[in-house]
Amino acid sequence: MDTLLYLADAERGRHWREVFTRESRAVVFRSADEDGDDGDVRFIVCWDVPADCFTRYPRLEAIFCLGAGVDHIDLAGIPEHVRVVRMVEPGVTAGMTEYVVMSVLMAHRNAIEYVAQQRQQLWQPRPMRTAASCTVGIMGAGVLGLACIEALRPFGFRLRLWSRTQKRVDGATSFAAAELDEFLAGCEVLVCLLPATGSTRHLLNAAVFNALPRGAYVINVSRGSNLHQGDLLQALRADRLSGAILDVADPEPLTTDDPLWSDPRIFITPHIACRTQPISAARVVLSQIDRHRRGAGFDHVVDRRRGY
Ligand code: NDP
Ligand code: OXD
Repeated sequence: MDTLLYLADAERGRHWREVFTRESRAVVFRSADEDGDDGDVRFIVCWDVPADCFTRYPRLEAIFCLGAGVDHIDLAGIPEHVRVVRMVEPGVTAGMTEYVVMSVLMAHRNAIEYVAQQRQQLWQPRPMRTAASCTVGIMGAGVLGLACIEALRPFGFRLRLWSRTQKRVDGATSFAAAELDEFLAGCEVLVCLLPATGSTRHLLNAAVFNALPRGAYVINVSRGSNLHQGDLLQALRADRLSGAILDVADPEPLTTDDPLWSDPRIFITPHIACRTQPISAARVVLSQIDRHRRGAGFDHVVDRRRGY
């Protein structure tokens, strides 16, 4: 019988098993510590792809990555006929939108500055601006970027989006790749939700910071490698930027001597913006398998040439 092999956290695997046992008769769930016929393995769920899986499981059809980002996977090493599918599931989207809304509001309402003031026992109100007078720009108009736009809309921010190909999104101004400077020129809060690829590495750098309005905030929730950390520190020291909120770093964990830790204008979280939720993720994978069986293919297959 067709088998899905789960190669990840055992505790979370219990929820995956429950969903598969309750909701699927067609696919058997097998965890890493269980024996079974390797010839039955059609699907693997994992974060790290085991090097031997293509020889060991000759009928493997798809790898479901537990993450939305796949930059940790050596795509070139995966045979063409094995699809790599990114994790797009409601739990990830909900977590990311919560984190981005929190961060944008923190920037807009000067939370970083007030934390610093509290440490100095300084009771000093700052001017308050309305959301309608503040422009928030999101780099990346994919699953998560678009969900964040939806979540920010009710606050009344002026919204912008930037992506490789231009999108049409209600209530947001969209910019294509070549319009980066035009996009940046208005963004008082910049959120990065781009995948980590050869073309996004260190994209958040001095040139981008200089193109933003003076005093802007930068929020990086994508991957640490998308940010040039030295350029960020320099832009903060020069008061070019007011603050930064970083959920990701390069490397992770951030080393204890990294200067990012001690800059009071930086708010750091340890890559917790969101996490794949086992029950909703298992249901998504089941429906993906069902789709594939009906001949409709998988959704969110990674484009190996683009790397996301
Ligand atoms: P998608 O693949 O759905 O969207 C990616 C977007 O980035 C697309 O709009 C794409 O443009 C755009 N893009 C890619 N490359 C470029 C480029 N060179 N120039 C301009 N635009 C570009 O990804 P998701 O929204 O699902 O996820 C985004 C990233 O968020 C993940 O790759 C991951 O790194 C990160 N992430 C972080 C988490 C955390 O906990 N901190 C959790 C989950 C994800 P186009 O639409 O034109 O192709
Ligand atoms: C992801 C992540 O890519 O958790 O899903 O960072």
